[in-house]
Amino acid sequence: MSDQHVRIFDTTLRDGEQSPGISLDVAEKLEIAEQLARLGVDIIEAGFPIASHGDFEAVEAIAKAVRGPVIAGLSRTGFKDIDRAWEAVQHAEKPRLHVFIATSPIHMKKKLRMTEDQVKAEAAAGVARAAGYTADVEFSPEDGSRSDVDFMCEVLQLAVDNGATTLNIPDTVGYGVPEEFGRLIAHIIETVKGDYVVSTHCHNDLGLAVANSLAGVAAGARQVECAINGLGERAGNAALEEIVMAIKTRSDFFGMVETHVRTEELARTSRLVSRLTGYPVQYNKAVVGRNAFAHEAGIHQHGVLEDRETYEIIDASTVGQEAAQIVLGKHSGRHAFADTLTKMGLHLQGDSLNEAFTRFKELADRKVEITEADLEALVAEELGAGAVHRYSILSLDVHGGTLSTPSATVVLADGSDRVEATAEGNGMIDAAIGAIATATGVTGTLLDFKVSSVTKGGDALGDVVVQLDADGAKVSGRGLATDVVEASARAYLNAVNKLVRLRDRGPRERAVGP
Ligand code: KIV
Ligand code: ZN
Repeated sequence: MSDQHVRIFDTTLRDGEQSPGISLDVAEKLEIAEQLARLGVDIIEAGFPIASHGDFEAVEAIAKAVRGPVIAGLSRTGFKDIDRAWEAVQHAEKPRLHVFIATSPIHMKKKLRMTEDQVKAEAAAGVARAAGYTADVEFSPEDGSRSDVDFMCEVLQLAVDNGATTLNIPDTVGYGVPEEFGRLIAHIIETVKGDYVVSTHCHNDLGLAVANSLAGVAAGARQVECAINGLGERAGNAALEEIVMAIKTRSDFFGMVETHVRTEELARTSRLVSRLTGYPVQYNKAVVGRNAFAHEAGIHQHGVLEDRETYEIIDASTVGQEAAQIVLGKHSGRHAFADTLTKMGLHLQGDSLNEAFTRFKELADRKVEITEADLEALVAEELGAGAVHRYSILSLDVHGGTLSTPSATVVLADGSDRVEATAEGNGMIDAAIGAIATATGVTGTLLDFKVSSVTKGGDALGDVVVQLDADGAKVSGRGLATDVVEASARAYLNAVNKLVRLRDRGPRERAVGP
């Protein structure tokens, strides 16, 4: 392996699984391990075999089944731990034992109740025991970033002298800051003699896990311990996908170093881990978040439509994500709106496009996200209405409840005029329809009334279809809104507009559906 290879050590199944509330069974761990192998990580830390029977079983099953990556098992320095870890990983094509003991004053005093000399003896003996089983031994001085540097280097030297080939420096409590952590890695490389790879293991308590790991790489670390979606104890570990994409995207800064990860598998791996652990991926999570390639601001959308690189540094397909998504919302401009419609095969021009855009903006003010289904419905409403509407709603005010008679006041634009009417009804929808009938003078018999939800969620778009029978003509109208009373009023007015057009054209024409 060349010096430029940054080994990706995935600890999703060990440190990641230690996240509060996560408990994966053997089958789920195997599924994740198989996917990690497809992703191309170098090492999978499959678990902590002494911790529980389930952990042992999972590590053993992964060691037996998964080919490609090194399979590591975690162990304290006690021989019982090491023997048990070996029992589980021995079946692997490439087994590794990962031995750790804390070296910080607080851990040695309060947790281990050991002196420095005892810790040194434990580290040396534990590593030697592991090296008796395999040539691939990793050693970690737990809470390394809060340890006395000289003492930690002495322990690390003992580990190398007893057979450790990887020295992993944990920032166990996420205390480090990049510059300082980078200096620590450089100091270890300079001080500890022998043939070994230096590794980072950074927690995210200050949100610096990825930055600290990358500082470690810049200082010479050639293994990074990380987890999919940044899972791990407390605030988590360094996120694998961010480390990998930072090294790839900023090769101008990191120089020749590279990982062997198949980045196109990142999004799939993230989704699998999220589904099986029940830990959602935050929407704006770097690289794998669902908004990582979404643009809503009109200016950004315009830029991305011209050239993706105006606002994107990663091509979504390289991480297995969907290509740049133009998310239509209240900040979107006409350019993105028209472009999205065209991509959906919906063609509106001139006044129809303007009307649809105005309606879209009104909707976007009330609806968090406009989906393709919303747009289809909106365009169907626009096309169904034909090019010219006589009436459009300026305002609708409805009152209801169990204590008062439902009533509605509607103000309509009639060309350049305004018409207003108030009506009572046996419900708010009935009152709104009554007010429109009074304002327009068009009353028909309601033949059919259907309400359905176009989209899911609390702000779902209500799609109302009404069928009216008036003047011997049957017309249907369609209305969309996040509020079902408004959707009904729009549907009714849509039908009224059609009737008015029919009247204007003469008695022979008969309208059909929306
Ligand atoms: O955070 C930590 O120190 C660890 C060690 C076991 C490597 O997870
Ligand atoms: Zn950890």
